[in-house]
Amino acid sequence: MSRSGELFVRVDRAADAPLSVQIAASVRAAVLGGALGPGDTLPSSRALAADLGVSRGVVVNAYEQLVGEGFATGRRGGGTVVAVRPDGTASRAPSGPDQAADESVARAVLDLTPGRPATRLLQDPEWRSAWRRAVAESVPAEPPDHLGLPSLRHAVAVYLHRVRGVEATADEVLITAGASDALVLVAMALGAGQHRPRIVVEDPSYPTARRVLSAAGARVEALPVDADGPRVADLAALSPAPDAVLLTPSHQYPLGGRMPVQEQLDLLRWAAAEEVVVLEDDYDSEFRHRRRPLPAMASLPSRADVVLIGSWSKTLTPWLRCGWMIVRGSVGDRLRATRAQLDTPVSGVQQAALAYFLSGGGLARHTARAQRQYSHRRGLVAAALGNRPDVTLGALDGGLHVVVHLSPGTDAAALVRAAARRGVIVADLADYYAAPASSPGLVLGYGAPTDLELRRALSVLTTLLDTTRLTGSPDEGDTAVLRD
Ligand SMILES: Cc1ncc(COP(=O)(O)O)c(C=O)c1O
Repeated sequence: MSRSGELFVRVDRAADAPLSVQIAASVRAAVLGGALGPGDTLPSSRALAADLGVSRGVVVNAYEQLVGEGFATGRRGGGTVVAVRPDGTASRAPSGPDQAADESVARAVLDLTPGRPATRLLQDPEWRSAWRRAVAESVPAEPPDHLGLPSLRHAVAVYLHRVRGVEATADEVLITAGASDALVLVAMALGAGQHRPRIVVEDPSYPTARRVLSAAGARVEALPVDADGPRVADLAALSPAPDAVLLTPSHQYPLGGRMPVQEQLDLLRWAAAEEVVVLEDDYDSEFRHRRRPLPAMASLPSRADVVLIGSWSKTLTPWLRCGWMIVRGSVGDRLRATRAQLDTPVSGVQQAALAYFLSGGGLARHTARAQRQYSHRRGLVAAALGNRPDVTLGALDGGLHVVVHLSPGTDAAALVRAAARRGVIVADLADYYAAPASSPGLVLGYGAPTDLELRRALSVLTTLLDTTRLTGSPDEGDTAVLRD
């Protein structure tokens, strides 16, 4: 057995566990035992490897594991630093005066805000190498093509064919600054002069999409839907028919169902007959935990104008503000013309880096890694909440969030506030509805937190749900009413 005295890291070559797993376990034990605290720098991988008589790669693997779990963070310029306190909570960056003033905010360290992906996984050599290649190229003196870099448009077409079964040429791909930018383009392209396009959205749906469409001049109409999306009969009953309908057929947002293929085909027939543009928001179809994803609606045979909208916000990070659309036919011409008028908001160097990352297979490998993590975390949520009599879980088939449906009459907003006071940020399902929500619920994102943070957040939520069941309120009261 070798030891690194200062850190008390042990490795036992006779043990079954790989050396990197043993090193990670020793550091974890030192953190949980209080021997190492937040901000403490771990020895350099070279020094620890020399100390223990192992190869440097073994220590690097162990440190990567600790970073992935949230026990440590990589520091700019090198070095790995402990990031959790012995009680298991992640340490925060030093808080500013405003944060310090508000204790409830200062303790808000377990952030389950839906829609945030696992960006720790991007501390990856392929990602860095794609960016290095992009900045090593000679810098053009002109702006990038307003439709997007040809190499990225080609890479998107190849990727979509492989992953979503969509036959699209590079010419049909338009690079955007994410789904929000795509919706601005749609609202502007479908409007003309005084005409404000009428766009039907699902209720519930992504609140940002409703906000962006309205801000860009559309008249937004919310149509009540269930977990599998809208019923064609409800759309067909709209008179006159709208200009466009925004849908999440592969994974209704946020309820998590999927639109049966027959319903999709009927919807396309209605859209073709009524000349309604179908906006298919394919925001997270790469992540599937139980059932295989449905083919994209844009891949089904139809005469309807279908615009497929995608984004790297969930597969990579919203920090990029980058995505794509597949545009065809006369709507495609209008969208391209609008983009030409507005010019592109997407940086050329970023597009070049993404083109390298996609065409080199980095995105596919990253998504496969993220999928494994999300499946594991979804399992943690199901284990903590799945067997409770007072909740039903929804949206478990895919993605990186789960909906916790609460017993009728439960005050979801009070639960959200009580969780925030205990440092756990979750969303109220009601916030996804334009109309008042018919039943209470919470939405939890499990993409960004580490396993450790997620377990801790779930234990806080479980305690709050227990208290709510016993007292009718998440904050202990004196009435012990059992809520069923
Ligand atoms: C339903 C839905 N569509 C699209 C997006 C991505 O939007 P954007 O590309 O503007 O970040 C999200 C992100 O959370 C989403 O939840």
